Amino acid sequence: MNSILIIDDEPSIRTILQEILKDEGYEVHTAADGFEGLHLLKTTKVELVLLDIWLPRMGGIDVLKEIKKEFSEIEVIVISGHANVDIAVNAIKIGAFDFIEKPLDMDRVLNLTRNALQFEKLKQENKSLKSKLMLEDNMIGATEEMDKVNRIIEQSASSDSRVMITGENGTGKELVARKIHLLSQRKNKAFIEVNCAAIPDNLIESELFGHEKGAFTGASSLRKGKFEAADGGTLFLDEVADMSLSAQAKVLRAVQEMQFERIGGEKTIHVNVRILAATNKNIPEEIEKSNFREDLYFRLNVIPIKLPSLKERKEDLKELIRYFMEKFKKEGTESKSISKDGMKILSKYSWPGNIRELKNFLERVNIMCNEQEISEESVRSYLGEKIHSSESSGLNDFKNLKLNEAKDKFEKQLLVYYLKENGYNISKTAQVLGIYPSNLHSKIKKFDIAVKK
Ligand SMILES: Nc1ncnc2c1ncn2[C@@H]1O[C@H](COP(=O)(O)OP(=O)(O)OP(=O)(O)O)[C@@H](O)[C@H]1O
Ligand SMILES: [Mg+2]
Repeated sequence: MNSILIIDDEPSIRTILQEILKDEGYEVHTAADGFEGLHLLKTTKVELVLLDIWLPRMGGIDVLKEIKKEFSEIEVIVISGHANVDIAVNAIKIGAFDFIEKPLDMDRVLNLTRNALQFEKLKQENKSLKSKLMLEDNMIGATEEMDKVNRIIEQSASSDSRVMITGENGTGKELVARKIHLLSQRKNKAFIEVNCAAIPDNLIESELFGHEKGAFTGASSLRKGKFEAADGGTLFLDEVADMSLSAQAKVLRAVQEMQFERIGGEKTIHVNVRILAATNKNIPEEIEKSNFREDLYFRLNVIPIKLPSLKERKEDLKELIRYFMEKFKKEGTESKSISKDGMKILSKYSWPGNIRELKNFLERVNIMCNEQEISEESVRSYLGEKIHSSESSGLNDFKNLKLNEAKDKFEKQLLVYYLKENGYNISKTAQVLGIYPSNLHSKIKKFDIAVKK
């Protein structure tokens, strides 16, 4: 049901408009002046405003400006008793959909109302088409694990239930979240993403809930947060485990009650938002360490989706490669194929960066490599030194060695691995390995390990 707000100081006009519009099946709200109207818009979902130009306290043109500034998606039809063309033209310049003169011709009111709402709907659809284009990739994968993931996506999409998506880096968590949104009834509404890890602790609450003008130094104007921006649509809390505990407490309430206050504000704001969350952390472990609220976890983790790592579904490798090569070709890069021996290397590789790493790797060889069929050597060299550490896992490396030789070889490999993992930071690596930094230094010398800066 479309919702309309009438702002007019004459009670009789409010009443007659309200009755006629209600009869047509619209939800109708009324306000007697601009302040009351703007106040109402902050808490109520409205698609169209019928706005009187001559209002006490705050003039209609100012109200119109404020609406266009704060609620740009709402359409406004201006009503005026003394319509002169100048005011009407001015109103339309500022963004009004059209204007009606008093005394009101009810047929024109209804016609314009329908047109304005239709226009608003088209704008929303347009927006949703754009968000559809934002689905970066098709979900590729035919393994049992991916089948299961796809089934859960399809089953959960149409409901409003919260979904918690977990998986290593680059396994497709964001892709899954977008897909759920696009398959849901909210697909024509906003999909708003918040990367909780990227926002400093002191700003996250204002980012999520917004702030009133003057709430803190630097808050020079009212700002709506992501919860409000996502109203009617989906809010994706990415890297949710990286949120501060105080933000978690507020998010818990917002998620539970679908209401909150902007920072520095007293008014409670109600929203209707579907929450999706993702993390590559192990949340039960974070709860254990008191880094994450258990109650929030239970709220968010209604439907869990665990994405398999690429290592766990190497059967999909071929299809993924085919898909990405095809995609690059469509985008205008020459597409290549991988030789049989090259494929062997790729399927042995551990892919710590998962699909993102695969995609980047393929893009790199496509552009940089001159061979039409990528050879084993090229695969090795474009995968870089990473291949050595993962290839050498397993016993094969140590066969035919004396115990001491094997021990040394293993120790060296382990040190190289952890040094790299910790950015060649000696004290960090030593801590991980449980040895003194001085001890690590002498081992680096002993094994002649190259320490990169
Ligand atoms: N199943 C899949 N099929 C095809 N492409 C995929 C698939 N999963 C992920 N991708 C692509 O891989 C890249 C990484 O995916 P995405 O950003 O969703 O991962 P993520 O889990 O959110 O990663 P991070 O933890 O680093 O944020 C994106 O370009 C995405 O489109
Ligand atoms: Mg992500």
